[in-house]
Formats: sequence, C-alpha cells, structure tokens
Amino acid sequence: MKRPYAYIAGTGHAVPKRIVTNDDIAAMGLETDDQWIIERTGIRQRHIAGPGESVKSLSADAARQAMAKAGVQPGEIDVIILGTATPDRLLPATAVELQSELGCTRASAFDIAAACSGWLYGAIVGESLIHSGTAETVLVIGAEKLSTVVDWTDRNTCILFADGAGATILRRTRGGQKGILSSFMRSDGALAELLWRPGGGAEEPFTAELETQRRQYVRMSGREVFKHAVRAMADATDRALDAAKLTAADVDLLIPHQANIRIIEATAKHAGISMDRVFVNVDRFGNTSAASIPIALNDAIEQGRVKEGMTVLFAAFGAGFTWGSLVVRF
Ligand code: UT7
Repeated sequence: MKRPYAYIAGTGHAVPKRIVTNDDIAAMGLETDDQWIIERTGIRQRHIAGPGESVKSLSADAARQAMAKAGVQPGEIDVIILGTATPDRLLPATAVELQSELGCTRASAFDIAAACSGWLYGAIVGESLIHSGTAETVLVIGAEKLSTVVDWTDRNTCILFADGAGATILRRTRGGQKGILSSFMRSDGALAELLWRPGGGAEEPFTAELETQRRQYVRMSGREVFKHAVRAMADATDRALDAAKLTAADVDLLIPHQANIRIIEATAKHAGISMDRVFVNVDRFGNTSAASIPIALNDAIEQGRVKEGMTVLFAAFGAGFTWGSLVVRF
C-alpha cells in the first residue's frame, strides 16, 4: 500500500480561561510595551493557565472535541502520543494519566519530547504505527503549560510563550487520496544551549542554589534561534513538498509553528506562498510550543480555512533543535 496510510479524522483545541495582554505583561514591571511586542513578534495576547488547569486537563478537553468530531469512542483509541516540553510530572508520562482520564482502556500512551516540533513528530510516529499495523486509530496531542517554566523576569522569553493544547485523531485510510502525503523530520543538538532549561533534570537536579540562579527556567538566545528557525522551516517546507512531488502552487494553506510573525513571513516568502494562504493566530495565542500547530489547525478548520480536498503544508521548529514538515490532503 502506498501513502496516504493515515488521515486526520478530527481536531480540537483548548486554552486556559485567563487572557494576558501585552499591557498586562508591561504592568508586571518589565521594560517592554505593547508596540514593541506586536512589532517584533505579532503577539497581542496569550492564554495563561490558572489553578486546576494542567497539561492533562487541557489535553483532555482538546482530545474530547477531536474524538467527537472524528466519531471515535475512547475505547477505539490504540495509542496516545503527547508532544510536550512541560509534562505535569516527570514520572509517569502525562499521556498515561490522560489515557486514564479519557477512559481509553485499550490504548498505550507515551510522551514525546521534541519541544515545538512535538505534535509534528507525534503525527509522523502515529502515522508509522498505523502503517506498521500496530494501530488503527491514534490520538496525537501537543500540549504545554509553558508559563510554569518561563522566567517572568526575562522579557526576552516571557512575552512569547503561552499555554494550551491541540488534539488530532489519526485513522487508517481506506483508499483514496486523503491523508498524510509526505513528511520530513530532523534534529541537531549541537546548538542545544541556544534554547534550553539548563537545570532541574537528572544531570543537575533541583537544589536551592539552582533555584537562586534561576537555572530551572527557559533560557533563549532569541536572535540566534530566530535565524535557525527561518533556515530550518524554509528547508522543511521544501523537503515535504519535494517528497509529495508538489510545488508551492499546489498548497492551499501553510500552517507553520506560531513562534513569531516575522519567522512565519520569512518561511512563507521562501516557500513562495503568499500570506493570504498562510494561517496565523500567534496574535491571539502566542507561542504554545508543541500545541501551536494543532491549535492552529483546529482554529483554521473552525474558521472555514481548511476544507475537504485542500492540501495543507505544516512546518515546525523548536528547541533541540528539532524541525520538520508534513503535507496533508484533507
Ligand atoms: O518556538 C521556537 C523557538 N523560539 C523562537 O522561534 C523565538 C525566536 N526569536 C524571536 O522570536 C526574537 O528573537 C525575539 C522576539 C525573542 C526578540 O526579537 P529580536 O528582534 O530578535 O530582538 P533582539 O533580541 O535582537 O533585541 C533587540 C532589542 C534589544 O535591545 P538593544 O540591545 O538593541 O538595545 C533587546 O534588549 O530589543 C530589546 N528587547 C526588548 N525590548 C522591549 C528584547 N526583548 C524586549 C522586550 N521589550 N520584550
């Protein structure tokens, strides 16, 4: 059997209730303002989790919508794959807690740590499990509570990152042209320190000293990451299109990782896709890392921007570095 092996049968997204505007961040005493943030990032507001809102609860909300739209019962899910850089606990995987919360009694479940590429990596793994015959139906989620790992005194990062979850149901295709047409994924750890949380893991466990040095929080060399993001996302769009034997003219919509409007614009320009064929919601949600693409996909579907028969190109880039792309026919 040739591709497509799997198609996206349903989507959903959930974000915390609380909206934090750029003015709210400026009011925290950071030297920043609404105009700077909008001009440099395109972000106007983001959702930040409060008590009772966890990676599991946001994921469960998004997953229930996706299952309902796909007409899939919890017992039909074979595998749950959760891309996250902010699991609720380091042990066990949040996906396993989600499996029990959703009542997916037949499912195996695991997390994927690929930062902002987490959902895209998960979709490729899910498709492969379907192709191998291991699974018929896979729940792939990207979910984050980045507000808990961001240094709220660092204006370089706290303006960008936000919380939320996006879910998709992948199902085995039964013939036809609908589904994942091509994929591409890459990693390069040589520059890991440009975007990382240096402490708090097994190598440098939590201590009072680590906390004083704020080494448990995200650190980012913004300008450097920016350059690599543009280069990697541009390359990724080429690779997936080549593999699908398509060109930019065949793409109805580009859904890129929502990191920064300037990165999105540069990616679209490289790919030769005009901005009216690019989905942007970074203005309302900020950078939700692994959740950003599945949130954008569900948002795009709800806005009528993705319709039956359309070809959608996805491109992701994140810490690691990790990056990748997908071409999907809906
Ligand atoms: O999710 C995937 C990985 N993450 C990303 O893709 C993020 C990639 N990076 C970025 O989006 C951008 O680099 C940032 C938005 C983080 C920063 O934008 P930039 O245009 O690269 O600014 P910059 O870091 O070059 O800083 C320019 C100036 C600096 O001042 P000086 O040195 O020119 O006096 C910064 O100190 O802007 C200053 N600055 C700020 N000013 C007001 C940095 N952050 C802020 C801020 N408000 N929040």
